[in-house]
Amino acid sequence: MVLRVSVGIIGAYSLKYESRSQLEAWDMIRESIKGVLNSVDKGIDPRDIELVIVSNFSDGYGNLLHSGPLAVDYLGNPSAKAFRVENACVSGSTALYIAYNFLKAGLARNALIVGFEKMSTQPSGSAANEILAKAAHPLEIVAGASFAGLYALIAKAYMDKYGLKEEDMALVAVKNHENAVRNPLAQFRRKITIEEVLSSQYVAWPLKLMDSSPLTDGAAALIVSAEPKMYTDTPAYIKGISMAHDKPGVFQREDMAMLRAIKEAADNAYRQAGVTARNINVFEVHDAFTIAEIVIYEMLGLAERGKGASLLKERTVWFDGSHPVNVSGGLKAKGHPIGATGVGMLAEVFWQVRGEAGERQVKDAEIGLVENHGGTGATVVVTILSR
Ligand code: COA
Repeated sequence: MVLRVSVGIIGAYSLKYESRSQLEAWDMIRESIKGVLNSVDKGIDPRDIELVIVSNFSDGYGNLLHSGPLAVDYLGNPSAKAFRVENACVSGSTALYIAYNFLKAGLARNALIVGFEKMSTQPSGSAANEILAKAAHPLEIVAGASFAGLYALIAKAYMDKYGLKEEDMALVAVKNHENAVRNPLAQFRRKITIEEVLSSQYVAWPLKLMDSSPLTDGAAALIVSAEPKMYTDTPAYIKGISMAHDKPGVFQREDMAMLRAIKEAADNAYRQAGVTARNINVFEVHDAFTIAEIVIYEMLGLAERGKGASLLKERTVWFDGSHPVNVSGGLKAKGHPIGATGVGMLAEVFWQVRGEAGERQVKDAEIGLVENHGGTGATVVVTILSR
């Protein structure tokens, strides 16, 4: 039986994302839990948190498995039940999806979500090509494909179909780096120019280093409640949350110039929340590579098919535009610590709809959307949060 409860996020915390953290993975978990407990306006007794979900992609990075009981210990509630969830880059939003459904079903009153990844323990070649690449289709893995290579296929298909140029994709990187300057939690707080993007090294034509999200160390945490008003006067309510899947391999898809499951998840989430893209004030989306952000605009209904780049040229999606996207800096410049990524995106929109995002606060943001995906869009979760 699904109860008529309003589930909301009542606390959020994030470590600063960085390239080479001095902290061990377990220290990152502990710090995030301490931070998120302190972030709840009216406070929360750890004994009221019955469910703990740890979002983490690979022990190949942080040298840590079975992190659930560790998180329970750091939380200080030995009766809580815990497990780790792995769903590639969408592990964080998957953790929220599970917590939301536990709470809706009355199986817990409050849940802690903590996401972490310490990617710098590996040289970038093995971090990206050996460990991350395992989240692709088996035939792509056997062929030695990297995610840069797979997104390059998507970019090529899109360029052929719609005439997109490399300088159009570069605008995504320029915008997101500019946004990251306002975000003290971001890995790269540095403006870049189109020329810098275009002259950066190719990692998989037509994508270059500056079209890519980086390898990042980071952790973030949320507390989600079925009784949010007990803990804060201003929760961020989960108005819609939906998961959808596409074929896991890029080569299996009829149209490689789209990310179909994003549209399916977004349409469901909009329906649940009773809104359309036009009503959303702030978006955090999964710009793992610049081409992804352009396709995402279209899948979310912000632009027609083939017209995504026009939103960049018309400044609609810039910080001062009508529909700002990735004001945190996005994966591109804020960073992409896989297991923490979705949790951090949700934290950002939580702060935005509560008016707590400091210099990067979007004026009058009441309703925000997080689009987080894994693989090349094989698993997608779209979440809509509102004051
Ligand atoms: N964006 C901007 N700057 C970046 C960057 C990025 N993505 N990656 C690295 N840099 C910077 C570094 O800070 C460094 O600057 P410095 O010389 O001023 O210190 C410089 O570029 C070189 O860094 P380095 O760590 O040697 O880069 P690299 O060549 O080892 O790795 C990539 C660069 C792009 C190959 C790597 O970040 C990568 O594989 N990214 C994709 C990760 C991925 O696939 N994620 C999953 C998506 S689904």
